[in-house]
Amino acid sequence: MDFFAVAVDDAAFLLRWAHVLAAVLMVGSAFALLKLDFAMKPRAEDPTPQSLLLHAGAGFRFLRARDADAAERALSFKWEFYATWASGFALLCLVFCAAPRLYLIDPQLWNASPWAAVAAALIPLALTWLAYDWLCKKGGLSGDALLVALFLFAALLALALTQVFSGRAAYVLIGAHLGTLMVANIAHVVAPVQKRRLASLRAGLPADEADAKAAGARALHNQYLALPTLFFMLSGHAPLLFAGPRNGLAAVLFIAGLFLTRRLWLKFSRGLGVDRRLGGAAAACLTLGFCLSAPGGPKAGGEALNASQAIALAVRPDASEAQKIIDGHCVACHAARPQVEGLVTAAGGLDFSTPGSIALHRGAILRAAVYSRAMPPPGMAPALGDHEKNLLIRWAQIEH
Ligand code: HEC
Repeated sequence: MDFFAVAVDDAAFLLRWAHVLAAVLMVGSAFALLKLDFAMKPRAEDPTPQSLLLHAGAGFRFLRARDADAAERALSFKWEFYATWASGFALLCLVFCAAPRLYLIDPQLWNASPWAAVAAALIPLALTWLAYDWLCKKGGLSGDALLVALFLFAALLALALTQVFSGRAAYVLIGAHLGTLMVANIAHVVAPVQKRRLASLRAGLPADEADAKAAGARALHNQYLALPTLFFMLSGHAPLLFAGPRNGLAAVLFIAGLFLTRRLWLKFSRGLGVDRRLGGAAAACLTLGFCLSAPGGPKAGGEALNASQAIALAVRPDASEAQKIIDGHCVACHAARPQVEGLVTAAGGLDFSTPGSIALHRGAILRAAVYSRAMPPPGMAPALGDHEKNLLIRWAQIEH
C-alpha cells in the first residue's frame, strides 16, 4: 500500500472535519448575532433597544455600547471565518486540484490540460472577490437593489462554472466562490470597521456612519450567501443535483430559492411573522430547481451492442449482464485495489467487484451513472450508452 497516498487520504479527512467544524461556528455565530440584533427593542422602563438572551442557566442583556474600557476584551467572530476558508482552500487543492482529471475536467465541456483546469479553478476566486467588491463600492446601488445585483452576480457565476467544469467540481466551486465572498467581506470590510469602532468606543466617540453602513451591508450579504454556500458545498453527495442535464439553470434556481428562504427567515427574526408570498416563491424556485435536475434517463430501447445484450434486454437481464457493464465502466476505480492513479481504496468507499455489491448499491448506481452524468467521471472511462442504461434499469427493477 502506498503510504503517501494513505497519508493524503487521512489528511483530507482531517481537513474535512476541521472545515465543517469551522463552518458550523462561522455560520452559527453569524446567524445567532443577527437574531440578537434584530430582537433588540426598548423596554417599558428603559428606552435603550436591547434583547434578552438565555444561555445555560442565566439571562444576558445585549445592547448597543457607547463606550469601552481600554483594558476590556472585545469579542468578535472572525477567526471562525478565516479557519473555514483556509481549510476549504486546502481541501480544494488536496482533493480536486490534486486529481484534476478525476474531479475537475469534463472533456465534453472543456478538454483542458490538468494545469489549465487547476488554474481556472483557483485564480478566479480572487477575481470574483474583486468584481463583487467593486460592485458594492462603485456600483451605485444599495439596500435591496444591491442584494438583487448580488443574486445576479452569483447566478452568472454559477452559469459560467457549470459551462466549464464537471458537474461535481462546478457545484463545489460555486460554493467556494460564494464562501470566499463571505470570508473576504469579514477580512477586508467588517473586521477593519470593527477595529476602528473599538478604538472610537474606547475614546468615547460616536460611530462613523459610512463605516457602519458598509459593514452592515456586507454582514447582511453574508446572511444571504450562507445558505447557498452550504448547499453547494454539500451537493457532492447528490449526483442527481450536480450532474443533471441542466445543472447550470438548476443552480441559478437553487440560489434564488435560498436567497428568498433567508429573506423569509430574516423577516421572521425581525418579528414580522411568516411572509407567505416569500415562502411560496422560495418553494417554487427550489422545486423547479429539483425538477430541472430530475433524472435525464436513457432513450427507450437504445442500440443493443451485441446479440446476447439484445436477448438480455428482451428477456430479463440477469446479474451477470449488469456486472459485465459495471466491470467495463466502473471497477477500475470501484474495487478494493483501484487501477487509477490517485485512488488508494475503492472510490467513494464503493467496491463493485465483490459478489452482490452491485445489487446492494443499485439505487446509487442508477442515480450516478444512468440518470445523471456523474459517473464515470467524464473523460475517465467510457460513459454508459443508452442500451446499457436501459439494461441496468431493467435489471434494477428485478427483485434482488
Ligand atoms: C475514474 C474513476 C471512476 C470510475 C471509472 C467510476 N467512478 Fe464512481 N466514483 C469515483 C470517485 C472518485 C467517487 C467519489 C467521489 C467523491 O469524492 O465523493 C465515486 C463515487 C461514486 C458513487 C457515490 C455517489 C457519488 O457520486 O459520489 C457512485 C454511486 C458511483 N461512483 C458509481 C459509479 C458507477 C456506477 C460507475 C460506472 C458506470 C463509476 N462510478 C465509475 C470514481 C470513479
